Amino acid sequence: MQPFRYHVFVCDQQKPEGAPSCGARGGLAVIEALRREVAARGLESQVQVTACGSLGLCESGPNAVVYPEGTWYCGLTPADAPELVEEHFRHGRPLARLERGDVDQVRAEMAVTREKRLAVMHAREAAGALPDDLNDRIRAFQQSRAILTALELDLFTAIGDGGVAADIAARIHADPRATEMLLHALASLQLVAKRDGVFHNSPAAARHFSAASPHNARPALMHTAALWKNWSTLTECVRAGTSVIHREVDERSSDWTQAFIAAMHRNAVERAVPLVAAVGAQGVRRMLDVGGGSGAYSIAFAAANPELQAYILDLVAVVPLAQRHIDEASLAGRVHTRIGDLRTDHLGEGYDLVLVSAICHMLDEKENAHLIGRCFDALAPGGRLAIQEFILEPDKCAPQSAALFSLNMLVGTRAGASYSEPEYTAWMHAAGFTAIHRVRMPGPAGLIIGTRS
Ligand SMILES: C[S@@+](CC[C@H](N)C(=O)[O-])C[C@H]1O[C@@H](n2cnc3c(N)ncnc32)[C@H](O)[C@@H]1O
Ligand code: FES
Repeated sequence: MQPFRYHVFVCDQQKPEGAPSCGARGGLAVIEALRREVAARGLESQVQVTACGSLGLCESGPNAVVYPEGTWYCGLTPADAPELVEEHFRHGRPLARLERGDVDQVRAEMAVTREKRLAVMHAREAAGALPDDLNDRIRAFQQSRAILTALELDLFTAIGDGGVAADIAARIHADPRATEMLLHALASLQLVAKRDGVFHNSPAAARHFSAASPHNARPALMHTAALWKNWSTLTECVRAGTSVIHREVDERSSDWTQAFIAAMHRNAVERAVPLVAAVGAQGVRRMLDVGGGSGAYSIAFAAANPELQAYILDLVAVVPLAQRHIDEASLAGRVHTRIGDLRTDHLGEGYDLVLVSAICHMLDEKENAHLIGRCFDALAPGGRLAIQEFILEPDKCAPQSAALFSLNMLVGTRAGASYSEPEYTAWMHAAGFTAIHRVRMPGPAGLIIGTRS
């Protein structure tokens, strides 16, 4: 079967630094240029451009092979794309100046590449070298630290429309030599580009890391930067069995709380629409949002059902931040806030829906059983409890996001953790819930719903 007239495989293989590869020589840029040219000529239904792994001619890349006829191209650049698309894909004339027609030579080159690769592999195995992927994971903190430091210094905003290292250093009140070293590291990570000695933000950095962008994620990412300090105590926490620098939310600085709630808001805004769709807002007249944070979920439920009144319970430092979002959404008449402690305070009664989103991981097992019991009491007959969380598989070894998040709770809380579906189900059964079921949603968070019948 050939659903397209031409299927173009372009190599985008990345190899360890120093080894020749299409990825290092701009394979991705070639793919993007080809796709652009194909779209510009309205040929999308006839030409499919697919990124692929090594084609075996690694020293001559970026390489591509075009089927059905099996035409090989080597040493492509984005500048070749218009001519290649016009000649080969519009007029059916392979581009002779880039085509590799010398089949025997191609085979010989592939054999040499394969032998070299096997020789390197055997030598490394004999030397007991760490596999590249393992090595990369062990050193991944270097990349993470460089980006977090740039965010802490608000470097991407300082780069603005471009600047030399000394000027950028002056803008962030930092040392010029060290700032230039950081800029070079960020260039190696493709977050900035250096042209004629002038540093510029990459499109991704300009969009997500600069105060000039409406999509600036820096305020929320400052929470990730703060998590770095917790994670650096992991070894001590594993020995101690609890966080060694733990402080409750209400003991934190206002900067920390703002970054924390900004981070929660970012996630919540993304998840709110699918969550409301999965839980359902119809028939809900009163809902309680326990530890409702920025209010994003209550706002989304209220927007989905004009009859619905939502009540957010949260700490004194957080409620004004939620109130700001509620006012911005013009929902002050239907989304209400209440200062209180979810661990101890009476939650109220007669709710049709209680939402507990990203709360249970802060609590230990006993506290969760207690909270879920009080949620049951707060519901009207027929009312539902919806718990949104990172939910572990029964053996707790997956998904990775939930297993790692459990460590995030170890280093940051007294006794928080990620819990498994059987644990949530058991707490809900014990509280008296029926019709307990898991709802799968896109993304890392899971949802469990139970009914007070
Ligand atoms: C991880 S955030 C989740 C926020 C929101 N539910 C969401 O999913 O985006 C935890 C929330 O619980 C609140 N919180 C923590 N301890 C609390 C307590 N003892 N009483 C009430 N709220 C608390 C925090 O202020 C924060 O808003
Ligand atoms: S890396 Fe592209 S052909 Fe080997």
